[in-house]
Amino acid sequence: MEVGFVQFSPKFGEKKENIDRVIELIGKERADLIILPELFTTGYLFLNKNEAKKYAESVKDSQMINTFRNISEKKNAVIVGGFAERDGDKVYNSQFAIYRNQLAIYRKAHLFYKEKSIFDQSEAKYVIFNVKGAKLGLMVCFDWMFPEMMRTLALNGAEIICHSANLVMPYCQKAMVTRALENRVYIITANRTGSNKRGKEEIRFTGKSQIVSPNGDIILSANKTEEVFLKIDIDETLARDKHINEINDLFKDRRTDLYKL
Ligand code: ACM
Repeated sequence: MEVGFVQFSPKFGEKKENIDRVIELIGKERADLIILPELFTTGYLFLNKNEAKKYAESVKDSQMINTFRNISEKKNAVIVGGFAERDGDKVYNSQFAIYRNQLAIYRKAHLFYKEKSIFDQSEAKYVIFNVKGAKLGLMVCFDWMFPEMMRTLALNGAEIICHSANLVMPYCQKAMVTRALENRVYIITANRTGSNKRGKEEIRFTGKSQIVSPNGDIILSANKTEEVFLKIDIDETLARDKHINEINDLFKDRRTDLYKL
C-alpha cells in the first residue's frame, strides 16, 4: 500500500483556504491512504464551545466530506482527517475516514487541556475502518498518551493507525516508536505546523509528522515547519504477525491473568 500524510499550517477559521491548501499540497500525486491533521479545516484554538459549534459541520450535510469523497473517488484513495463535528446540540473533535461511498467517523476519546471545555466528551468506542483489504485504526492526537487506546485498536485487528494530530508537547513522535513496537502496527501521524493565537492564548505546534513501522523504525518524516505531502510504500501484512522472534508472540504472550486491577 502507498500511504502518506499532509503536514501544513491551517489558518484559524479559513475553511475553504485550508481545504484548498490540502488539495494543492497533494496536487497530482496519489496514494492508497492519505492522513490529514486534526481539525485541519478550522484550525485548533477555539475560544469557547459556541465558537466551535459555529464552525462545526454535521456529517449529514458536510460539504467538506463531499469534497473529500470526490477526491477519494478520483484518486482511488482512502482519506482520513480531523474536523469539528456538530451533532444536535453537541460538538465533537472528530475524525472522518472516507473511501468512495464508505464513511467512518471517530470522536476523539481523550480531550487535551482546554478542549475539555470546548468539545463534548465522546461516548463512542474505538473505530476500525475495513478498507482496501486493510484494517485502519482511527485515533486523534492526545489519544496517543493513553496506551490502552492503541492496544485496544491493535488487539481488535488494526494494522495501520491513522493518527490525525495537532501536537503541542514534544513527546509523541518519540513515544510512537514504542507504541508501534509494542503493538506491531504501522502508525501514521499527520501533525500540523505553525501556531494559533486567539485572545490571550497562543499555541505552537510541533510538525515532524511521521510514519513508524511495526519494528519501531521511523520510515518517513517531515521536519518541524515544512508544508508537504509525503508518501511511502509499506507492506501492511507485516502488522498481522505479532511475533518478535520465533518463540515470542506479543499478543499471545500477554499475561492477562496478572493484569487485573
Ligand atoms: C492535542 O490533543 N491536540 C494536543
